[in-house]
Amino acid sequence: MTRNMAAPSRNIPTIFAAFGATGDLMRRKVLPALFYLYNSGELPAMFRVVGFSRRDWTDEEFQGYVRGVLEAHAAKSIPDREVEPFLSFFTFQKGTFEEPASYEGLKKTFDACDKEWGVCSNKLFYLSVAPEYYDTILNSLSDSGLADPCDPNEGWTHIIVEKPFGMNLNTAKEVDELLSNLFEESQVYRIDHYLAKEMLQNILTFRFSNNLFEIPWGKALIDNIHVRVLEKIGVEKRGPFYDGVGAFRDVGQNHLLQMLALVTMDHPESYEATAIQKRRAEILEALHVLSPEEVRRSTFRGQYDGYLNIEGVVPDSDTETYFKVRATLSHPKWEGVPIIMESGKRLGPPLKEIVVTFRHPAPCLCPPGQPHHKNEVIFRMEPREEILVEFWSKKPGFSFTTERRELHYMMREASVHVPYVEEYAKLLLDCVRGDQTLFISTPEIRAMWRYVDPIIDAWECGDVPLVKYTPDTGEVLEEAAYIK
Ligand code: BG6
Repeated sequence: MTRNMAAPSRNIPTIFAAFGATGDLMRRKVLPALFYLYNSGELPAMFRVVGFSRRDWTDEEFQGYVRGVLEAHAAKSIPDREVEPFLSFFTFQKGTFEEPASYEGLKKTFDACDKEWGVCSNKLFYLSVAPEYYDTILNSLSDSGLADPCDPNEGWTHIIVEKPFGMNLNTAKEVDELLSNLFEESQVYRIDHYLAKEMLQNILTFRFSNNLFEIPWGKALIDNIHVRVLEKIGVEKRGPFYDGVGAFRDVGQNHLLQMLALVTMDHPESYEATAIQKRRAEILEALHVLSPEEVRRSTFRGQYDGYLNIEGVVPDSDTETYFKVRATLSHPKWEGVPIIMESGKRLGPPLKEIVVTFRHPAPCLCPPGQPHHKNEVIFRMEPREEILVEFWSKKPGFSFTTERRELHYMMREASVHVPYVEEYAKLLLDCVRGDQTLFISTPEIRAMWRYVDPIIDAWECGDVPLVKYTPDTGEVLEEAAYIK
């Protein structure tokens, strides 16, 4: 299904089954996003959330929990009339992931709901669980027949899988093979919430719906590209997870590589999900895989002072909280163009953007002795969602001098972006509508790990020293400035 032909979601009876109903992702992202969809009038009229976990809860207790989560998120109490109709969507099913009886219980709940609605509804399975449970849950969904549609002509079943998607190429392949043995690719929705960011979706529109920039978009006129996700926040309370992962796996392997793909991919043949996924995969497959020597020359890793004191971090951990990597593409359009990916935590004010720098014009009508005349196009997500086009203009006056100016497009003037809610709302709605454009396909997963693995392997061999940095400063950015 194409993005612009998405079916109206109100007419799609859907049961949302949440494995790990009280999990961190449900609390922080999914429940606020579902409430946002409800308030936007986007949830199907026939909608049910079945929370599944080992707790001994009644429906009312689960609803009380959901209400608490929403109020904590909104940081205020929500009047009954606003929240009660939403809470009435929620039911609870006690069970463990291992017992077949739990899945039979779920099936009975689904059947009862379908009978009440008089339809064979669609089923959305959301796994808010640690990856070690995937095997048990996915196999049980398949064995119990829960993943089969209840009618050959209506009622699909979709499975939403969260990152981390494996720890390296081999483990990613294992999960992927499990999924593809049990389900069709069209049933699997792998989340990277960056793809749902408005600004990143806008890159394709900016490039392919205007005739202004696409022709110069390539090595002939582009000098370099910077992809940055510089975070203000630290690791916070995620020590046990983060320490085993590190910044490059946490955001580099997925978010930054997807940003790179969107800014460099070829024109998709259409706005079909498969056409866009294919182009993203092709460009990710074109990433030049670094040799150990190139890893030494083209990458940098750092860790902020104080990281080792975080609960769950091993005392002598050498996990990176900052990285910088110079990538290149073996692609006729991009050969030789450095693409710098940089990200880290506790780096001072947040800055999340892609900067495309054009070459100095040659010949140039540039007054001698003036600064370099390079144009930049900036897609920025934080601190504001904006697109900037920087250019050189004649300075008004009697002499011929130039000055740097910018065309500025601010994506939203009034509304405020609520972290995660908008992205998850969009992703959940797309799962309901059956649109996979904003989800990661198997070839993309594989191409990303194929690029990332040799870098992490070289780091683990000690090829690149870990540099300590003072948090909340730009110190490490300066130290790594030689990578360009
Ligand atoms: C998540 C990472 O996937 O993305 C976090 O696990 C990171 O460590 C976050 O902070 C960044 O996302 P956003 O939307 O806040 O830029």
